[in-house]
Amino acid sequence: MKQYRIGYTQGVFDMFHIGHLNLLKRAKEQCDFLIVGVNSDELVMQYKQKTPIIRETERKAIIENIKCVDQAEIVDTLDKLNAWNRFHFDAIFIGSDWKGNSRWEETGRQLRQVGADLVYLPYTDGISSTILRKDADQKVEG
Ligand code: CTP
Repeated sequence: MKQYRIGYTQGVFDMFHIGHLNLLKRAKEQCDFLIVGVNSDELVMQYKQKTPIIRETERKAIIENIKCVDQAEIVDTLDKLNAWNRFHFDAIFIGSDWKGNSRWEETGRQLRQVGADLVYLPYTDGISSTILRKDADQKVEG
């Protein structure tokens, strides 16, 4: 039996890449039902001051058709307690790149109080949406 019943993870998942896939596969190894929150275009604009290359409806469509994903929903807040109230997950999974981040440590404490675990999964080195965007820009600049 898997460790958790409902697992949750949230991100932009722009230009879906192998780092995203590794994270989702590892998350599904630990839960029966994996829900993925896909950050809305407006939310990404608010906190990153840039719009994703792939629009939210398409990012959601890609994510929900990945074999290890059971449900995908567009979310418009970074507040993980808000996500917990919506999805009642038993664990939230994030990449180990966030380890030591004080905001996530506080989130972990808050989620513990409602009975959910914060689980760090290995980050895949050398790939990110930011890197892909930069590489593409460099190719254009030539
Ligand atoms: N992630 C990962 N390995 C990578 C890239 C992302 O494990 N190489 C994880 C992140 O830790 C997060 C999830 O995938 O839990 C979604 O991350 P997201 O921010 O959408 O992906 P990035 O490609 O890192 O995007 P950006 O470069 O804009 O930060």
